[in-house]
Amino acid sequence: MATYSRLPGSVALITLHNPPVNALSAAVRQGIVDAVQRALKDPKVTSVVICGQNGKFCGGADIREFAGPMLGPPLVPMIHAIEAVDKPVAAAIEGVALGGGLELALACHYRIAHSKAVLGLPEVTLGLLPGAGGSQRLPRLIGLTAALDLITTGRHVSAAEALKLGVLDQVTDSNAVDLAVEFVRSVAGQPLDSRRLSTLPCPCPPDVDSLLDKVMSKVRQRSRGALAPVACVRALRAAASLPYAQGMEKERELMATLFNSGQARALQYAFFSQRVVGKWSLPSGARWDNSTARIISKAAVIGLGTMGRGIVVALALTGISVVAVETQEKQLAEASRVVPAMLQREAGRRRLATPPGVISFSSNLQDVSEVELVIEAVFEDMSLKLQVFKHLSSVCRPGTLLCSNTSGLDIDQLAAVTQSPGLVVGMHFFAPAHVMKLLEVVYGPRSSPEAVATAMQLGKRMGKVGVAVGNCPGFVGNRMLKPYLEQANFLLEEGATPRQVDEALEEFGFPMGVFRMSDLSGLDVGWRIRKEAGLTGPGVESTRTRQGRRYSPLPDQMCEAGRLGQKTGKGWYQYDGPGGRVARSDPWVHIFLETYRAEHGLVARSITLEEILERCLYALINEGFNILQDAVAAGPEDIDAIYVFGYGWPRHRGGPMFHADQVGLGRILQRLNQHSHPDVPHLKPSTLLRRLVAAGSPPVQKWREFINKERVHS
Ligand code: 3HC
Ligand code: NAI
Repeated sequence: MATYSRLPGSVALITLHNPPVNALSAAVRQGIVDAVQRALKDPKVTSVVICGQNGKFCGGADIREFAGPMLGPPLVPMIHAIEAVDKPVAAAIEGVALGGGLELALACHYRIAHSKAVLGLPEVTLGLLPGAGGSQRLPRLIGLTAALDLITTGRHVSAAEALKLGVLDQVTDSNAVDLAVEFVRSVAGQPLDSRRLSTLPCPCPPDVDSLLDKVMSKVRQRSRGALAPVACVRALRAAASLPYAQGMEKERELMATLFNSGQARALQYAFFSQRVVGKWSLPSGARWDNSTARIISKAAVIGLGTMGRGIVVALALTGISVVAVETQEKQLAEASRVVPAMLQREAGRRRLATPPGVISFSSNLQDVSEVELVIEAVFEDMSLKLQVFKHLSSVCRPGTLLCSNTSGLDIDQLAAVTQSPGLVVGMHFFAPAHVMKLLEVVYGPRSSPEAVATAMQLGKRMGKVGVAVGNCPGFVGNRMLKPYLEQANFLLEEGATPRQVDEALEEFGFPMGVFRMSDLSGLDVGWRIRKEAGLTGPGVESTRTRQGRRYSPLPDQMCEAGRLGQKTGKGWYQYDGPGGRVARSDPWVHIFLETYRAEHGLVARSITLEEILERCLYALINEGFNILQDAVAAGPEDIDAIYVFGYGWPRHRGGPMFHADQVGLGRILQRLNQHSHPDVPHLKPSTLLRRLVAAGSPPVQKWREFINKERVHS
């Protein structure tokens, strides 16, 4: 709701009340409409201030209401009514003014903010556009070029930047409400025409069409297949070329299309998933709200290869001092040179308010004895990791948390060789570790709630989306990736080309198809893992069935031919030499595939894009259902957050489990059955999927409850 009070003198104060962010729910909108009427009618009131309770102006429309029917007064007429008030109205912005919150402020005649406030129109990230006049008022206030940037990216800006852009009239380090009250008193009675943004022309550069075309092609390229950024540019074109009323009509039309699109639903689901995963729980009953995290100020990283270096930077950026240990002299020397430069670059980019932590480099594991938490990032080799964990357990102070960045090895086995198994967890970062948002926090059967809470809290400090997952080979992300990669290789055997497979996946929205991705990360990574698992290597027969299952030796043969991807200039594609980035089809690969098929008596067939997508994606989704059934992930939101933040799953498709819901569980089941092969257990539909279909395919939001009920009954 919103409350109305008349301050001594002549100022009416309207305060939004809807914790935690004063979102514009039906009750709040009704409260504002009523309060504005009162201020208008009260002859003693000469000016008005709108603010939010608890130091937060407004977080925008209430996203939770989007799923239901529209109730209460609509936003657009409310905003028009505020702009039309004939007494000066100021927005006193503290905390946040986002989305509809900023649109409310743009309807006011003046905007005064606290210096720590954050402003923005992030609707595009929810699959929408600023649909309460924001797409038409903001460009009239700050010009088309700046508005295009803010609206198509949805980025948040500081009060200082907003002042510079002209969004704000004043910024203060003290109380923004007091200043706004004082300010509106001083301007009472002055003409307001020039303060009503809807009446102003939109400042545009002379080459407006070419600017709009340029931005349109940039957003199309950046957000493959996403509708909202394109609609934002269209709305801004209307602001630049049409009178306000017609621009508003265009905004309304575009908003209606977006609002009803599956993409908006997917992006709103992704918004809430990101918040759901923060509220983790363990099978033991320990939860985010009943477990205490330790505050870490000194940490160590062991192994300064690709991952270790990024992890050192991520920790130091939060102000933690880091002991960075590497045994190979050459690697240590290179890391001592490269890591400080990475840190400086990243600190500059993020404009850190506090200085980064101090990094000390060492070749001696003894030097970690004083730290509170260690992250191990040595080679993916169990015997080496066991050795390191044993050593750490004897060197570190009792109570030190020992974490591993393993991509999928058994956390419990590592815990077993330490003196305090409860203090061992996986902290699985993604490359590059200082950039990628995802952190899988892997708990073993003995991991203590305190260890999980500390790893999750540390992830949050580093700006990561932490997801707590159970301990199994590959955890969640890599376990699901395995059947996806397998299907991609089988498709090559059956007649597809790497480019065909990649194009289907890129068309779906992945930034990179599976083969381009393998070339980027290096084909030898998987090769080493398969050798360790006894699937390939000397003495292993070159058949298409291994360990009782269909197996494609194609990627092993690529490695044996020295084609490791970009690092060798050749992989599934060819590049302009080692380290090259531009992938070109390679006739060698086509001949290699033809020879392989001939050797194995395979006849190439034409494979549709639909089959490529179904085989790759449904195999991955099916494994997601197995993971839910095994309780390795607490709910579909956890899996979806992992895939969106760590594996390039297009955000506007919500995540693999959300996608399954959108496609229809019945269809997924039917297609899995259709493509199933007795040798490929990953395409055998998961029992949970079958049960959900038998139960009438409840929506994704109900799966957690369904799984928990099934677990109780079984
Ligand atoms: N509607 C409903 N609930 C919201 C909300 C909103 N606009 N914004 C935040 N919340 C909820 C969150 O879901 C969370 O709920 P929970 O405690 O039950 O999990 C709670 O508020 C706190 O949110 P955060 O955990 O995200 O808190 P932070 O302090 O980290 O961040 C924030 C606060 C920056 C405001 C962040 O929540 C945010 O970015 N919110 C979304 C803002 C937004 O996108 N607004 C545009 C809405 S669309 C719109 O306005 C359309 C209009 O143009 C017509
Ligand atoms: P890497 O090969 O680039 O680096 C490993 C480093 O560890 C090397 O510099 C090596 O000299 C060092 N090392 C080996 N033994 C050591 C010891 N006893 N003490 C100190 N340093 C030692 O490997 P990468 O890619 O960084 O992987 C490290 C770990 O991270 C592995 O467990 C891997 O599975 C995991 N991981 C890798 C990802 C990737 O994309 N590369 C992604 C996520 C996890």
